[in-house]
Amino acid sequence: MDLFGLYEIAAGERRMVILNSFSTQSRPGGYIHKTISVPGDKSISHRAVMFSALADGTSEINGFLASGDCLSTIECFRKLGIKIARDGEYVRVEGKGLNGFIAPADILDVGNSGTTLRLITGILAGQNFNTHLTGDTSIQRRPMERVFAPLRQMGAKFSNDLNQMPKTAPFTIFGSDLTGVAYTLPVASAQVKSAILLASLYAEGKTVIVEPQPTRDHTEIMLNNFGANIVKIGNRIISHPVKKLTAQNITIPSDISSAAFFLAAGLIIPNSELTVTNVGINPTRTGIIDAFRAMGARLIYSNERIEAGEPVADITVCSSELSPITLEGDIIPRMIDEIPVFAVTAACAKGRSVIKDAAELKYKESDRISVMSKELRKLGASILETDDGMIIDGRVTLRGTTLQSHGDHRVAMSLTVASAIAEGVSVIEDTDCVNISFPTFFDIWKKIF
Ligand code: S3P
Repeated sequence: MDLFGLYEIAAGERRMVILNSFSTQSRPGGYIHKTISVPGDKSISHRAVMFSALADGTSEINGFLASGDCLSTIECFRKLGIKIARDGEYVRVEGKGLNGFIAPADILDVGNSGTTLRLITGILAGQNFNTHLTGDTSIQRRPMERVFAPLRQMGAKFSNDLNQMPKTAPFTIFGSDLTGVAYTLPVASAQVKSAILLASLYAEGKTVIVEPQPTRDHTEIMLNNFGANIVKIGNRIISHPVKKLTAQNITIPSDISSAAFFLAAGLIIPNSELTVTNVGINPTRTGIIDAFRAMGARLIYSNERIEAGEPVADITVCSSELSPITLEGDIIPRMIDEIPVFAVTAACAKGRSVIKDAAELKYKESDRISVMSKELRKLGASILETDDGMIIDGRVTLRGTTLQSHGDHRVAMSLTVASAIAEGVSVIEDTDCVNISFPTFFDIWKKIF
């Protein structure tokens, strides 16, 4: 068997990926020298479909991320009576206005998608019908009280309101009349903020949200493009009622969270130069870029522009000698989904890196603090798991072994990056989960070497 490359073996429902080390002997001239593009932004794709469904008229979306999570959003809105046609990355949504939904005949199933669940709960709280919501086993573990609490203050009612019931999916939303609220978020969460903003479209009076730290603001940007009246003053986000939203044409940039795996690979694999084109660089999402730069990464933006109100650029990285850093405070929500691949990168920096203030990672598709620490330790990395992050001592030589994704897409992709610099062969089990956010991940991965 050719020991350089990547192999996928179908084994029942599981797939294993075997990656071999990329050593200087096997590739003397250097490794990655490529320009690639990655699919559309997941957060923006969800919102584009949702807001188009709420608008009057037909919206056209280009660059849509056709992944498991975003397809769950499309399915839910179809069940609410919205006509949605899709051809690859092109989506056409025939919006029926803020009050055009029909009561779904069926339970709405969000699959693995936390964003679908949190945001749709905000929309459905103010309807004049009841909705049942569920999702997969991972979704059924993810906390919902953070969404229920503010919406309840607005007048929303949920089947889980009784204390003894678990505050997770499945649950029923009893459509109710809503009023505006002033609410301080206890944790920085764009999903919770967005759920409240969406409920505010159905509320009487204004809604004010106070954010403890800035989180991704795609909802504010895109809803305003559709005709909402949302303003940000300091850490307060104020939504004034509007009568209607109007259909838009939207071009979605590539997802910085997907680009991050390749940027990390370009930085840590020797003799590499890699460009990812057309990446969304909204400052509420670029914590990972700031972290890489603070580590001494050779990284540049080119071709900077604005598309659909969102800043976009091509990003080029070259292999770099990385220094350790401490991640804490406001940067954490700005790179919350990139911390698993940051941990891999930190394991390649000489010295101690520390991740603090990141307890939210426990509530993602898996407990990412525990899972990343455990799996990277299997490769030989020196990582201590803490209550709100990790302490990583680099740079230890990693050695290939059998790893587990724990059904978490970002863990599977982060471990793929780690395996590329490990000596020998690694097997990553249960890699189908990459379809949640990045179905073409392994196709692109194979092409860069
Ligand atoms: C998202 C917000 C983040 C992120 C998730 C997508 C969004 O979650 O982890 O993948 O689209 O609003 P939180 O806002 O709950 O941290």
